[in-house]
Amino acid sequence: MAAHKSSESALGAVLQVLRDAPHPISGEHLAAQLGLSRAAVWKRIQRLKAQGYTIEGSPRRGYRLLAIPDKLLPEEVLQGLNTRVLTGPLHYFETLDSTNNYAKDLAAHGAPEGTVVIAETQTGGRGRLGRDWDSPPGVGLYVSVVLRPQLPPLELPRITLTTAVAVVRTVRRVTGLAPGIKWPNDLLVQGKKLGGILTEMETESDRIRHVVVGLGLNVNNPNFPPELAATATSLALAAAGPFSRVDLLKAWLEEFEDLYERFLNQEFPEILTEWKRYTVTLGRAVTVKQGPREISGQAVDVAPDGALLIRVASGELVQVTSGEIAPEPVPGPGA
Ligand code: BTN
Repeated sequence: MAAHKSSESALGAVLQVLRDAPHPISGEHLAAQLGLSRAAVWKRIQRLKAQGYTIEGSPRRGYRLLAIPDKLLPEEVLQGLNTRVLTGPLHYFETLDSTNNYAKDLAAHGAPEGTVVIAETQTGGRGRLGRDWDSPPGVGLYVSVVLRPQLPPLELPRITLTTAVAVVRTVRRVTGLAPGIKWPNDLLVQGKKLGGILTEMETESDRIRHVVVGLGLNVNNPNFPPELAATATSLALAAAGPFSRVDLLKAWLEEFEDLYERFLNQEFPEILTEWKRYTVTLGRAVTVKQGPREISGQAVDVAPDGALLIRVASGELVQVTSGEIAPEPVPGPGA
């Protein structure tokens, strides 16, 4: 299992020259341009090929970049990424048990805010409420980000809602689809689940030590296992795909950073207003399951702290801070 720390990547410079070159470029030119030996250039070309880049190389004409792999390689994600906080280090894996697990471990060992963990597949992807997250290789986004907000733990639900707004913005921007949010943070399209967010934190006394925000998004899945087929969907199934996972990841990092900075800047009320524009939960009859307990009524609003407000049969307004709306799925926009 190879981690890849891209900011220190020695390959990026070679790749950049190949990307920019309008015609094949000789090993000699590459070496001179980058201040490397020809042997060092050759080694880097081999490493790029091993990562999946298609590079034509002929002794007479030189090297030419023909195709970029459909992978979330750091060189691709960082290329033109317009972020100030969510900049990495970026840890990339072909396989990981769970990006949240890995990010939590990094955070516990002092990883800075903006650290990003990406996997092509997860063998133990986790969802909310102890569920599994189906994470087949090469078709989804499985990404976790480390944050270090200097805030009390009760701010966590607001961070989760903020993340969901960033996902909706991302999907709209890249695919034109308009997902709905099922409280608190399920992303739905045509009434089926497209993605989910798992936010976890460590605290010390009354302060957040770090937060790990994990996003799972079904992008190019052509189908789902039988037990999920009725309730899950992917962007490619909902619209004419396939979609670029790299573009989606970059867009999410940019949108999330924008919203996270606003959140830190006391602008959560505006973010909540946007969340309410996207939600499919408010105004509906809902049953929230909290373990064995069930609360049924009309979902009337979300409180400023992110709690769902349910008007129950007695007329009382009940605040629900955790749990899951049943039955799934709630019909979404376009359903
Ligand atoms: C849910 O809807 O239940 C939340 C799903 C969150 C899944 C993502 S995939 C990346 C990150 N790593 C995990 O193990 N889980 C989250």
